[in-house]
Amino acid sequence: MKILLLGGGGREHALAWKIAQSDKVEKLYIAPGNAGTAYVGENIDIKADDFGSLKDFAVEKGINMVVVGPEDPLVKGIYDEFKNDARTANIPVIGPSKQGAVLEGSKDFAKGFMQRHNIPTARYQTFNGTNIEEGLKFLETLQPPYVLKADGLCAGKGVLIVPTLEEAKKEFKEMLDGMFGNASANVVIEEFLSGIECSVFVLTDGKNYKILPEAKDYKRIGEHDTGLNTGGMGSVTPVPFATKEWMQKVEDRIIRPTVDGLAAEGIDYKGFIFFGLINVNGDPMVIEYNCRMGDPETESVMLRLKSDIVDLFEGVANGDLDKREIEFDERAAVCVMLVSGGYPEKYAKGYTISGIDKVEGSIVFHSGTAIKDGNIVTAGGRVIAVSSYGKDKEEALKKSFEEAQKIEFKDKYFRSDIGQDL
Ligand code: AMP
Ligand code: GLY
Repeated sequence: MKILLLGGGGREHALAWKIAQSDKVEKLYIAPGNAGTAYVGENIDIKADDFGSLKDFAVEKGINMVVVGPEDPLVKGIYDEFKNDARTANIPVIGPSKQGAVLEGSKDFAKGFMQRHNIPTARYQTFNGTNIEEGLKFLETLQPPYVLKADGLCAGKGVLIVPTLEEAKKEFKEMLDGMFGNASANVVIEEFLSGIECSVFVLTDGKNYKILPEAKDYKRIGEHDTGLNTGGMGSVTPVPFATKEWMQKVEDRIIRPTVDGLAAEGIDYKGFIFFGLINVNGDPMVIEYNCRMGDPETESVMLRLKSDIVDLFEGVANGDLDKREIEFDERAAVCVMLVSGGYPEKYAKGYTISGIDKVEGSIVFHSGTAIKDGNIVTAGGRVIAVSSYGKDKEEALKKSFEEAQKIEFKDKYFRSDIGQDL
């Protein structure tokens, strides 16, 4: 098979690494990819949302399957673009239709969907410029802290958690006033939930599903979850509180009703569903849906998937996922993200990265890297994920931290407390 993978971050390097291990793959292209994906496939200089060029490329090269990494092309409707063009209609796209991607693209839609299907989530209401007064009144019915969410996509920045009612009212009005542009024309106000978060991933063909290993990610820049939010500083799988009993609740109360709900609403969904969950006194509740895999969770979760991922993708495309085997590695896996000094605020790019070749026993996934004059250089805030196995998370983390010391670039930073809260 010839596979075209879209995206260019650490998640996509991890997916590319796993796809390339399949005996079914004759050729893997990554558009646009990064310096790391070039080791496992061929990078193509096309942006992941340049649908016209992607379709031309797919036809010209005889691509048999498209796998979509990031949400942006999904929310923009790449699935439908391929399906509605006679030249590409037969090429399966692993990822939901535009309508399915709204689960991530609109928080209001996601909340309404959960309400319609009795899926446990925080109490909420949605407001816009026409009912500001009602929004202010709704805030008064809630306890602090206050959770305000821009309805639309904001690259992970659209959620504010505000300590006082006064500030919440001010931020609410500013959001409606265009704090996040059009994305905050509608604002979801919801109850604050207290608990530990956990990411659960499912691959579905629209009817059947397979549950992948769960993971916990670390979003804040500083040790012990302090400082600004980032794209993710590390991840750990398995998650100790995600016991068999807890995961059974997740499946019965959240996964099955979501997959059935999508089908009942006539929404075409063949791809990953990412359930951002929170454990509230032993009961899982949904914080958010994403229509793709998580980053940096993929950089640990892929290590624990023993089965051929391309066989699972074929199951998604053919609608016979129930007939495919899924097997997991019993070991723990983690990733530790090396980032540019200053990130997530101002940081420099273009620093030479050395020492990757000295890494032994860990797997290096590139996130923000590029090739310049034959050298690998930093090209983003999050630069490299160092992923490792261990008999338990302690052993895996020790390995990642050791190997992280060998990779060098100016102003490198990483969190050395990943996994310690679990
Ligand atoms: P989201 O983009 O919806 O995932 O929100 C970003 C982050 O805000 C989540 O990962 C949580 O840490 C936090 N968050 C969102 N909604 C809530 C909530 N209702 N209660 C507590 N924390 C929340
Ligand atoms: N790790 C969270 C996300 O991918 O959205």
